[in-house]
Amino acid sequence: SELDLQSILDFTIALAYEAGEVILAGSEAIQSVGSNVDEKKNSVDLVTEYDVKVEELVRKRISEKYPTFQFIGEESYAAGSRPEWTDLPTFVVDPIDGTTNFVHGFPYVAISLGLVYKRHSVLGVIYNPFIDYLYSGAKGLGSHLTRGGPQGKKRKLPFAQSPKTLASLSQAQIAVEWGNDRSSKPLQSRSKSFHQLAGDASVEGGKMVHALRSLGSSALNFANVAQGGLDLYWEIGCWPWDVSAGVIIAQEAGCTVTGGHQDYQATKDTPTFGDVGESILTGRKYIVVRAIGDSP
Ligand code: IPD
Repeated sequence: SELDLQSILDFTIALAYEAGEVILAGSEAIQSVGSNVDEKKNSVDLVTEYDVKVEELVRKRISEKYPTFQFIGEESYAAGSRPEWTDLPTFVVDPIDGTTNFVHGFPYVAISLGLVYKRHSVLGVIYNPFIDYLYSGAKGLGSHLTRGGPQGKKRKLPFAQSPKTLASLSQAQIAVEWGNDRSSKPLQSRSKSFHQLAGDASVEGGKMVHALRSLGSSALNFANVAQGGLDLYWEIGCWPWDVSAGVIIAQEAGCTVTGGHQDYQATKDTPTFGDVGESILTGRKYIVVRAIGDSP
């Protein structure tokens, strides 16, 4: 591509480390003196002053370095800045993915910095500052996990030589999320899917998978499928900033991603759990993301 992805990646990694310090300081402050937690859509859709602060820092750094790039951020979107998707390079940013975890002091939290170009994810950095795990990936450059700071040890993803092949879906460890739309219809269909995945043979459609995990950060779910610790991540209700970095990191690690994020609207061609199960069995890690408004 015409973009120098390696140099953009170096910049984005440095920016993630800088933002990570602000996130850690914010967490210290919240745990000791508390914070103003605001509710966006409803009482489980949270935002703090630190989400806004980190997004402002990131937006400033990006506009200084790449003045022609577009910017879409979770908090600016919430505040009414809703740019159209174009073919221009566009940074799509979630300053704090896992805000609920952040508020509660549960260290499964990350900044997610994704670059979308010609409407495809081409570069991503996901950094969890609490455990110092930095996931990075770019089209054609592979995906990596770096631990130990900027000069730390960098390992190629996935850790295993090739994606592991499962003998059956029941051997899978799967991430799902409850999301923040808790109204009756989506909650019921989600619960039904979770019930079938977890349930044994006495449950109709029961798959009795090794484990279902609901950890609260979409970006880190992508990263952990790329790393190999999760076999599947399935969610309904993601926004572009939840997935823009994760998509390319997962794809470069050999995972299959399906579902839409190129628009604010849903795509309708999401596979069922059945289709997804088949793919895990043939050795492809699967990530399914559906946009807001869809039901399972
Ligand atoms: C949320 C988290 C959560 C997922 C939601 C996201 P936020 O992002 O990634 O795991 O279930 O769909 O909106 O609000 O913490 O940035």
